Amino acid sequence: MIPNELIDRILDKTDVVELIAAYLPLKKSGQNFKACCPFHEEKTPSFMVSPAKQIYHCFGCGAGGNAIGFLMNYEKMDFIESVRMLAEKAGLTLPQLSKGVSEKNSFAEALYGANDSACKFYQENLTGRRGGEAYGYFVKRGITERTAKLFRLGFAENFWQGLIEHLKKQGLSPDVLKKAGLILQNEKTGNWYDRFRNRIMFPIFDQRARILGFGARAMDESLPKYLNSPETYVYKKGTELYGLNFSKEAIRKQDYVIMVEGYFDFILLYQNEIRNVVATLGTALTTEQIGKLKRFTRNVIMVYDADKAGEAATLRGMDLLIAEEMNVRIAILPKGADPDSFVRRESKAGVVKVLKESYDLFDYKMSVLLAKFKAGDARGKARIVDGMLPTLSKIKNAVLKSAYLKKLSEALEVDEESIRAELKKVKPDFSRAFSGEVREGHRRIESNLAEVALLALALESGRFAEKIKNGLGFEPFKSEAIVDILKKIIELHRDSKKVTAAHLMSCFADSANGEIISEAASLAHTIDDRDKALEDCFRHIRKHTLTETLNNIRFKIKDAERSCDFAKVNKLVVEYNELLKGERALGLNNAQRGS
Ligand code: UTP
Ligand code: MN
Repeated sequence: MIPNELIDRILDKTDVVELIAAYLPLKKSGQNFKACCPFHEEKTPSFMVSPAKQIYHCFGCGAGGNAIGFLMNYEKMDFIESVRMLAEKAGLTLPQLSKGVSEKNSFAEALYGANDSACKFYQENLTGRRGGEAYGYFVKRGITERTAKLFRLGFAENFWQGLIEHLKKQGLSPDVLKKAGLILQNEKTGNWYDRFRNRIMFPIFDQRARILGFGARAMDESLPKYLNSPETYVYKKGTELYGLNFSKEAIRKQDYVIMVEGYFDFILLYQNEIRNVVATLGTALTTEQIGKLKRFTRNVIMVYDADKAGEAATLRGMDLLIAEEMNVRIAILPKGADPDSFVRRESKAGVVKVLKESYDLFDYKMSVLLAKFKAGDARGKARIVDGMLPTLSKIKNAVLKSAYLKKLSEALEVDEESIRAELKKVKPDFSRAFSGEVREGHRRIESNLAEVALLALALESGRFAEKIKNGLGFEPFKSEAIVDILKKIIELHRDSKKVTAAHLMSCFADSANGEIISEAASLAHTIDDRDKALEDCFRHIRKHTLTETLNNIRFKIKDAERSCDFAKVNKLVVEYNELLKGERALGLNNAQRGS
């Protein structure tokens, strides 16, 4: 939407050092500046900012990018917002947003505005002269005045037209209030009436503290316990996590998040100075919610209600978290407790203890299964394995998965081979393919150092980019991202456009690409003899590819031998020897040769 030329001009007018210095204490270190990385916990600085390259890079966690990337990562702004902010600082004006976009924005703004006005009204009611019962309810639940203010808790009085009358006086139209989900229309009479009546009100915030909707709790046993805003243009269920706007800094600092179910759980923990918390609001966890958390940490401790529903939700949520490559632990509360009641009874220290004693995901699931099935008899064992495998199959780290399989086999005294055979039968989970958005997130893509080094060379000069394309080709590359970036470099050179790390980063929406570019750019100065480095990398990558092919054939030979297909064995051996000859000719004679 914003032309690339303009982004280039904005970047030219921006100094990444000056920008970052406003957030972090930067110290001069040779040509660069350094600081403790804001994206992971560390005591000695490995976060570098390069004035020459106009990028930042952390050698500890791999975070990196240009000025735009820094704002996106640090301020959690989106691309357009970051560009806009830099443009303002640089005194440049962005073109007007297209009509459709600005209309959509102002519609969203109108809904946020309506929610905010409603929230103010509910807050006033709480301290107003009819607020006694609601106020008393909060007091009974241990919520202080300060906490109520912070979370903007409120009270919807027991009137049919309280809110609508009040907001109409402020000039808000019933149409907007209806679209915000605050009022409803009587079908027969056409009269408007308030959705929330005689309930205490929890506004639901997004990460920028705008109000998306409300959860409204009855003050007695009437049902539903909570009445929630419907989905609106700004409120989509399963996208936000309650409280993240309050807790994100603490989550980032402590590098883990405590996940709870309810409003009261969140609020009471927060009030008791446990701040790295989010609440799922009783709904099933979604990939999108996890994506939001990933920006701040990869570590989760789930602390759900200690009842049947809480256990089921833990098991479901746990599997999704694992599939999203989060590290999961489960803290167990005494039977019948929830984090809210527990922290009120046992205070912060009690919660800290329970967190310390939290279970590894394997041990937790095992304990649930052992309580259901008998590990003593064969049928019980089979059911426990059945229950365990869907979880283990979602673990992406092969070493970890293997360790758990071993643990399972030992715990049940079942041999590992048969568990592995069962594991093969578990169907892969395709749900992600259908979820619409497949993001790399802020995951650091594992890539071969030689590939990154080649990227570093290509960044130095277009000549190297061409050499890579013609000399090695893109086929042997493991990292698709690096290939994309190399292609982009060649394209930019062809159009005689500027190719610097900082400019290149803004060509990609994916921040993972920015991290690879920053890594490569930071590597460049370590390379002395560039032409030799190029050849070294080619050789390394070719060797690696060949070794893989050879290993693959060896595996096939074994397989063919097992099934006594000797014709196939012969054919494969010939193929193998041919490749080996080629390998020697290439001077790659020290290829790894296991059995
Ligand atoms: P809980 O039933 O555990 O409620 O549901 P709670 O938050 O602990 O409330 P108290 O302590 O009984 O007052 C957990 C969450 O599920 C959602 C709410 O977001 C709630 O915080 N929920 C629950 C609903 O949306 N509707 C309901 O009817 C019940
Ligand atoms: Mn509760």
